Amino acid sequence: MKVEIEKLDHFGRGITYIDGKICFVEKALPGEIVKIKIVKDSKKYMLGKVIDYYKLSDDRVEEKCIYSDICGGCNLSHLSFDSENEYKCMKVKEILRKFGNVNEDKVLDIESSNIYNYRNKVTLHGSNNTLGYCESGSNSVFGTEKCLLADEKINEVMEVVKGMSYTEKIEELLIRTNNESDEVMVSLKGEINDYECLNNLVDTLIINNEVLLGEGKIISSIGSKKYYVSDKSFFQVNKELTVKLYDEVKKVVEEFKPKKVLDLYCGTGTIGIYVSEYCKEVIGVDYSKSGINDANLNKELNKAKNVKFICERVENVIDEFNNIDLVIVDPPRAGLDNKTMENLKRIAAKTIIYVSCDPATLARDLKVLSSDYEVVYVKPFNMFPRTYHVENFVYLRKIN
Ligand SMILES: C[S@@+](CC[C@H](N)C(=O)[O-])C[C@H]1O[C@@H](n2cnc3c(N)ncnc32)[C@H](O)[C@@H]1O
Repeated sequence: MKVEIEKLDHFGRGITYIDGKICFVEKALPGEIVKIKIVKDSKKYMLGKVIDYYKLSDDRVEEKCIYSDICGGCNLSHLSFDSENEYKCMKVKEILRKFGNVNEDKVLDIESSNIYNYRNKVTLHGSNNTLGYCESGSNSVFGTEKCLLADEKINEVMEVVKGMSYTEKIEELLIRTNNESDEVMVSLKGEINDYECLNNLVDTLIINNEVLLGEGKIISSIGSKKYYVSDKSFFQVNKELTVKLYDEVKKVVEEFKPKKVLDLYCGTGTIGIYVSEYCKEVIGVDYSKSGINDANLNKELNKAKNVKFICERVENVIDEFNNIDLVIVDPPRAGLDNKTMENLKRIAAKTIIYVSCDPATLARDLKVLSSDYEVVYVKPFNMFPRTYHVENFVYLRKIN
C-alpha cells in the first residue's frame, strides 16, 4: 500500500491515515511517500512497516549505526540533527499546550550539544548466549559490539569484554565513565571466570556486587563541582549538556537567593550541591541508599556544609517540610504523585524548578499545579540525541 506521511508522533514514528484510521510507521518522515505493509490492525490504530521508499524527505540522513534496523534505542537516526531539535521543541510545545494548558510562547529554544558519543553509561544484557541491547519493541537481545551514542572509552571496554572467552555467561554489563572520560567503572553480573584483561582498562571493577578493583565509585565533574558516583546511583547520562541544565537551575537560584531549598529526587545530591553557595540551607531527598551514600560523600568533597540529605521516599516525608523558599523537583518519568503535588501547594514556596525527562507527565503535573503556580518559562534540553526523549527545565512562580 502506498501512503504519504503527514507528521511525526511523539515517539518519532511517521503518521498517515488509512480510511480515516491512524497508522504509525517507523522510519518514515513527514512528506515521504512510502510503500508499507500493515503489521497490526487494531480497533483504534494500525502499525505499518516500510517496504519501499518512493519519495524521500530532504530532512532524511543516512543512518550511521549498523544496528539501526533492529535496535530499539535510536528512533530518529534517519533524521538530520537540526530537524531532530526542531521536532523535539515542537513536540514539547504541543504536549504542554494540549495537556498542560501552557502557552507555546513560554517554551524557549532547545539547547543541544554532541549528536554522538555523549552517553557516559551503557548497560548491556545477556540472554541466550548473546550480550547486547534489546531489539526494538521486544526483550530479545542482539549482539552489540559498539554504540555510537556512547563515550569512546565505553566502546573500548565493550570491545575487550566482547573478546572474553565466557561472554555467554555474562548476565549484565554496566560500563560508566566520568564526564572527563578518564575514569571507567565496570560492573558485571553472571559467571565471570577471569577479568585480567580489564585490569589496566578500568579504575573500578564490580563483579556480582563485590568490588574487586578500586573503590566501587568514580569521580565525575559537572562544572566546577566533583561528584562520586557508584554503579547503582542515578547520574545524568549526557556528558556535555548536564552542565547547561544545571546552570539554568543555578541562574534562577542565584537571582532568587532563597534561604531554604528543597532538592527532591536528588540522586547523588548533584543539583543541591551545585547551587548550595547561593542559599542558606539545602535539603535533598532520594530513596536510593546508594544515591544518598554518594550524596553524603559529595557534600564533603565539595565542602558544602549547608546541605543535608534524607534517604526516604519523597511522598513519605513531603508533609514534614515548611518554610521553604524554593523547591527543585527532578522526578523519574512517572512524574509527581498526588500527595507530593498537594504538599507542594501547601508548602507554597515562591519558586519551583521542575526538571523533567517526560513531557507528558510534566504537562499533567503542570496542569495540577496551575491553580497555585504560573509557568515563567520552559527550556527543552536535547539530552538524548537520536532518540525521541527530551528533557525539560521549567521555572514556576507562585501566584499571589
Ligand atoms: C531523574 S533522577 C534525578 C536525580 C538528580 N536530580 C540528578 O540530576 O542527578 C530521579 C531520582 O529520583 C529517585 N526516586 C525515584 N522515585 C522516588 C521516590 N518516590 N522518592 C524519592 N526518590 C525517588 C531515583 O532514585 C533517582 O535518583
